[in-house]
Amino acid sequence: MPNRTPLTRFLIEAERAGQINPELRLLIEVVARACKSISYAISKGALGGVLGDAGASNVQGEAQKKLDVLSNEILLEANAWGGHLAGIASEEMDEPHPIPDAYPKGNFLLLFDPLDGSSNIDVNVSVGTIFSVLRCPDGVTTPETSHFLQPGSQQVCAGYTVYGPSTVLVLTVGHGTHTFTLDRETGSFILTQRDLRIPADAQEYAINASNARHWDAPVRRYIDDLLAGKAGPRGKDFNTRWVASMVADVHRIMTRGGTFMYPVDAKCRDKGGRLRLLYEANPMAFLVEQAGGAASTGTQRMLDVVPTGLHMRIPVILGSKNEVAEYERYLREG
Ligand code: AHG
Ligand code: MN
Ligand code: MN
Repeated sequence: MPNRTPLTRFLIEAERAGQINPELRLLIEVVARACKSISYAISKGALGGVLGDAGASNVQGEAQKKLDVLSNEILLEANAWGGHLAGIASEEMDEPHPIPDAYPKGNFLLLFDPLDGSSNIDVNVSVGTIFSVLRCPDGVTTPETSHFLQPGSQQVCAGYTVYGPSTVLVLTVGHGTHTFTLDRETGSFILTQRDLRIPADAQEYAINASNARHWDAPVRRYIDDLLAGKAGPRGKDFNTRWVASMVADVHRIMTRGGTFMYPVDAKCRDKGGRLRLLYEANPMAFLVEQAGGAASTGTQRMLDVVPTGLHMRIPVILGSKNEVAEYERYLREG
């Protein structure tokens, strides 16, 4: 198969084009390898004894699944010794995780949601991993929380994997967004779509409608107008899709357009929103923008938000550019 481009070749070519340096190339290879291990663990399902609760809670107060813990450990172990990182932060860990003293330190900070959509694991529905890469500030060898609090516009790389019918890796280093599919026979991620483009207009939207009674008035008005379809003020019909794994919902948008929303509502207002800025919203925002879409809090470009905490939460709307602008207009008009 002469035309196949494995991830390794894609990254070497990106390095030759001056888009990444060797250290970032190694980092991406290591993360992809860890995601491969997670994919294999997940695919064993009940046979691997990996389903069910871990019997503990994370810093967010959420019950951890066995696979949340295992995926976190796989990513930590894979990234400890390569010399490419100065520090790691994860949804599953309260504080940043230092690189052990036994190993050299690199110049990057890695942040991840090791397993997104945990509520779907036990019912055999798609889950994923989301990651973001920042530069460690100059002169810092032992990064603290404050060093991770950089706006998303500072990301040098972001990606996610979806563990679905096939395992796909979607990646950006700031030069477009590209999809790779795991070939289980060779163990390589193969480039299957270069330069994804999200259609500017949406026909579909994703929102957890069971929260409708908690929504603010502008969000309710916006969704009501989508539901009114052709006969309503929007003059066209929309379809709803909601997987409840952000990775799967975002991947559908990457593939055929649409929007994904998780607004702040009365239920989560005290926390600032449902989704986490640094390892959920920001990497997705970078990937979506690089594919020609838009990502916003509803009132501000996501990538401009200055983080105030490692696990800070934020309202999210992302996807087809024109529809994100439309949502922002409803919020502006109040
Ligand atoms: P995680 O499994 O990493 O905690 O993230 C789950 C997120 C996201 O994937 C999804 O869109 C959202 O939580 C669903 O939450 P609700 O079921 O509470 O609406
Ligand atoms: Mn998540
Ligand atoms: Mn998670």
